[in-house]
Amino acid sequence: HRGVVTIPVVVHVVHNPTNPEQNIDDRQIHSQIDVLNLDYRAANPDVSQVPEVWRPLVADTQIEFRLATQDPLGNPTDGIIRVETGREFFPAVDDSVSPPVRDPVKASATGGADPWPTDQYLNMWVCQLGDGLLGYAQFPGGPPQTDGVVILNSAFGNTGTAAFPFDGGRTATHEIGHWLDLFHIWGDDDGACSNDDRVSDTPNQADANRGVPAFPHITCDNGPNGDMFMNYMDYVDDRAMFMFTVGQKERMDACLEGARAAFLV
Ligand code: ARG
Ligand code: ZN
Ligand code: CA
Repeated sequence: HRGVVTIPVVVHVVHNPTNPEQNIDDRQIHSQIDVLNLDYRAANPDVSQVPEVWRPLVADTQIEFRLATQDPLGNPTDGIIRVETGREFFPAVDDSVSPPVRDPVKASATGGADPWPTDQYLNMWVCQLGDGLLGYAQFPGGPPQTDGVVILNSAFGNTGTAAFPFDGGRTATHEIGHWLDLFHIWGDDDGACSNDDRVSDTPNQADANRGVPAFPHITCDNGPNGDMFMNYMDYVDDRAMFMFTVGQKERMDACLEGARAAFLV
């Protein structure tokens, strides 16, 4: 009904000069935008691997992403900001200091980069993360100064330093799903089957799947088809995830008509 929504993106590459590979090149950044535009339009070639039973549920979200062409002052930009840091890596919360610093990568005062206005741009920070983390996101409705997604440099895009098995650009697909109000497909209930993702067309499933699972994988009495582990909101390897559902699109639409309505203009 609403047609295609295009989200302007700014990518902040925060890198330590002693590790030049952290300063990923433009080509790798463009490859990430390309992946997002395939995945969110259900134009990704691997969508053909969706099991027959779930093909009718595959959604073209009608959301596209474009590197910003105007900065907040209206000047031309390529949508890529490069910032040097003295930090070796960025924890989601730095509790080596008191009081702990949340999201150090998201502010220049803490060795990161300040966001562009978060009601006009999707801010993506690309950096060295800690604790084996591939990325994390802020849900809609949170503090504006930390709104956006953070992605590990070697899990960004599908070329350059992108490293197997997270070299398909799907970490950003997943994290932007959270930014658009999607929960994990298993409902984050540690196998209890008691909570779900608030989406009716995704089967209730027990816990996260990893690697490249074999279909079907049955949990929470969800047979015969089992978990929809090939959904972007599971934790499988990049080559094993390739769909959003119609129900997930509805949640993203509600987000774009609500908390993130500024992007609809
Ligand atoms: N926040 C999740 C993590 O750090 C992201 C998982 C993304 N999965 C993927 N196949 N790229 O583990
Ligand atoms: Zn997640
Ligand atoms: Ca569900």
